Amino acid sequence: MAELNLLYLSRADVERVALDMATIIKLLSEAFKEKGEGRVEMPPKPGVHTQPDAFIHAMPAFIPSLRSAGIKWVSGYPDNYKRGLPYISGLLVLNDVDSGLPYAVMDCTWITAYRTGAASALSARYLARPESETVGILACGVQGRTNLEAMASLFPIKRVYAYDILPEVQRRYVKDMSEKLGLEVIGVDEPRKAVVESDIVVTSGPILKHPTPTIGKDWLKPGAFASAVDFDSYWKPEALSQMDRIATDDHAQFQYYRTVGYFLETPDPYSDLGELVAGVKPGRQSPEERTMAMNLGLALDDMAVAPEIYRRAIERGIGTLLTL
Ligand SMILES: NC(=O)c1ccc[n+]([C@@H]2O[C@H](COP(=O)([O-])OP(=O)(O)OC[C@H]3O[C@@H](n4cnc5c(N)ncnc54)[C@H](O)[C@@H]3O)[C@@H](O)[C@H]2O)c1
Repeated sequence: MAELNLLYLSRADVERVALDMATIIKLLSEAFKEKGEGRVEMPPKPGVHTQPDAFIHAMPAFIPSLRSAGIKWVSGYPDNYKRGLPYISGLLVLNDVDSGLPYAVMDCTWITAYRTGAASALSARYLARPESETVGILACGVQGRTNLEAMASLFPIKRVYAYDILPEVQRRYVKDMSEKLGLEVIGVDEPRKAVVESDIVVTSGPILKHPTPTIGKDWLKPGAFASAVDFDSYWKPEALSQMDRIATDDHAQFQYYRTVGYFLETPDPYSDLGELVAGVKPGRQSPEERTMAMNLGLALDDMAVAPEIYRRAIERGIGTLLTL
């Protein structure tokens, strides 16, 4: 039998491929349409939990139209920054859809960062006002960066209000993101200032099972859209119940999280992102609605993007061939 190989892509290899945000959003859109039409196989993610508020999740998915099947094995450890380690780390395996054989293993840090921002922007395409031009970012970490980049690729963004509990992190964000995206990025000294003026708000702090939320009723202005990347950790129940529409990315996953103690005060989402993209459910219906995406992060997002990273790596000779 011929020798079987797989391509290994390190974190640096994946970063070198540097897939652009517009392509990532396009791939996600195709995958969510497939999901909305009932063709994706994706069981809710099981996980193990070695520390409070930490997780290691198994995330498999199969997207027939993209001929993509595989699994991400990803961890999130909120205290890692104290040891100079990343919050998110893990590996992703791609399997051939005809033979089941694994053909690629890659670090999943970059893909997790970018596909999450892209999913927020895809939700915003259906739920935010198209002319949205101000963004509030609450937490200037990895997600604060990729979410802004994704929003700026779909909307005519002019001004950004950025808040982080660590002033140094916020200062670095203001400098980096204004240079990278050519936008006016203003650091603000309290969360409220990042919310009240913004057409689009992204909260991207730590996910906590028992949060002490900050954003209250009437902070989000009528007509604004919010993406809660950190679940309901930043949002008070009275702010959540004021939303005219809350969508998620997957109903089953949302209900699973409820059974393990999350989202106890969050209303049931009226739609998931697949239903929005496939046109099964309507998006925003008027300029005054307050809307929100509560995306949980799906294996589907990763499996939409990973084969394209693999293809471009092969084309450019990036990565290391390993024997299976
Ligand atoms: N929903 C999804 O699909 C998805 C996917 C990936 C990550 N996440 C979540 O997104 C969050 C951010 O991840 P990341 O990779 O950007 O982490 P990160 O460590 O890079 O950034 C987190 C930032 O939050 C700041 N922060 C902490 N508490 C804060 C507070 N109360 N107010 C403002 N800022 C605060 C920190 O200083 C840090 O800059 C995590 O909770 C992670 O689990 C969600």
